[in-house]
Amino acid sequence: MSDILLIMPEGETQNAFAMNIKAYLNLETHCVNNVVEAIEELSKDVNSFNLVITYTEIGKEPSLKVLIEFFKDRKLKISILTLGEDKYVMMSNSAQEFSLYSVEEPDDLREVLKTTAEIFNITPRDMLKVPTSQFYPIPIEHFSTLISTPTDVFIKIGKGDTCQYIKRIHAGEGLDESTLERYISSGVMSLYVESSNRLNFVNALTSQLLRHLDEEISSDNDAINEDTITQTIQETVSKNIEVLGITPDIQKICNKSIHKMMKEGEKFPRINGLIERLLSNKATFGFKHTQITTYMAMAILKKIDWGKEEQEKTISFVSFFHDISLKNDAVTMIRNETELNNAILSKKDKELVMRHAQKSAEFIHQYPHLPMGADTIIRQHHGVLNGHGFSDTYSGNLSPLTLVFIVAEECAHLVLKSKFEELNRMKILYDMEQKFKTSRFKKMLDALDKVIE
Ligand SMILES: [Fe+2]
Ligand SMILES: [Fe+2]
Repeated sequence: MSDILLIMPEGETQNAFAMNIKAYLNLETHCVNNVVEAIEELSKDVNSFNLVITYTEIGKEPSLKVLIEFFKDRKLKISILTLGEDKYVMMSNSAQEFSLYSVEEPDDLREVLKTTAEIFNITPRDMLKVPTSQFYPIPIEHFSTLISTPTDVFIKIGKGDTCQYIKRIHAGEGLDESTLERYISSGVMSLYVESSNRLNFVNALTSQLLRHLDEEISSDNDAINEDTITQTIQETVSKNIEVLGITPDIQKICNKSIHKMMKEGEKFPRINGLIERLLSNKATFGFKHTQITTYMAMAILKKIDWGKEEQEKTISFVSFFHDISLKNDAVTMIRNETELNNAILSKKDKELVMRHAQKSAEFIHQYPHLPMGADTIIRQHHGVLNGHGFSDTYSGNLSPLTLVFIVAEECAHLVLKSKFEELNRMKILYDMEQKFKTSRFKKMLDALDKVIE
């Protein structure tokens, strides 16, 4: 009997995984080449393994998808650890009996060992020594705004322990557009910097983004990709905030982005104009979510007596930061505990979604000159006072400004859910009325009525 079933084509990488798992964790691994062989193995005796490790895809085969269907069918309770980014996990929508864990970089042996240790409850003290990963991945899109890098940048060739990091950009240089496009179209997702230089690099990245944004704003350029700057900023901050904290550069960048989002909304008296523009810019989900929420909130504030400039500032700040602790764009779609329970996500990710409001509020605590009340609204943006979980009812203890945000975000969500195909005005307004029935919402809904078209 083995502890782990490893689905990975025969070769150096497979050997390296099995050897390291044995060496560091003292666990036995049984290897198979593909998911068909794995199913054969599991059909013999489902109790022979405690964990199945698989790439999300092997060649053109969607291994993880096939495996999950098999697990659901047989109601298996064995844990799965997936290697590589996967879209299927978020799309699939059914309760699962097994636990799912994931490692984003498919050949990150170190992360695989760490996660496997967690699954088997092996403490770091029990492990001999986990090798440190020397290189840190930077998503390739970031290089489009990076004029010069402060450190050498490497490209990864090959997989597993046979992979090599080749220097591609020297410190002080950048990457030209055509090379960047060639990399992206050939499937390169990240370039690498030495881990010890990571902070340096991310700092340079944010300050160059800031400069870029400055130029965009002062040139009043209506170029088609003008949102990409703001979008990149939001993503960069969300991915790196834990490492960097709120540096003066990050603060400046965010303030500008927030301001830009507020101004953007003013150009459009009705939401359809804004949507058309977002569509033409191919904005990411997280960006659309923030921009439309800001727009809806401004529309409400303009119609209520106490909605002054200060409230506008607070609420656009909240729109920008409320989901900042969620790294995955798609999970911002989750609106209640049923949806969360039904989403196929690892335990760790589910826990993060549960606590994201509280975590986002904690993050922004270090923000200098925090707009008044912003942290409380962020903590309570799903209707729960302590920021843990989701609520469908709205306690009298929530501030009026928190309610404005909740209503604006719900409306933005319904607009986004209609997938921009055709805005079903009547249905959106009906759903909103069902959700927000009491008289304290009346004026807010009236305001939305005027802008949805
Ligand atoms: Fe949100
Ligand atoms: Fe949220």
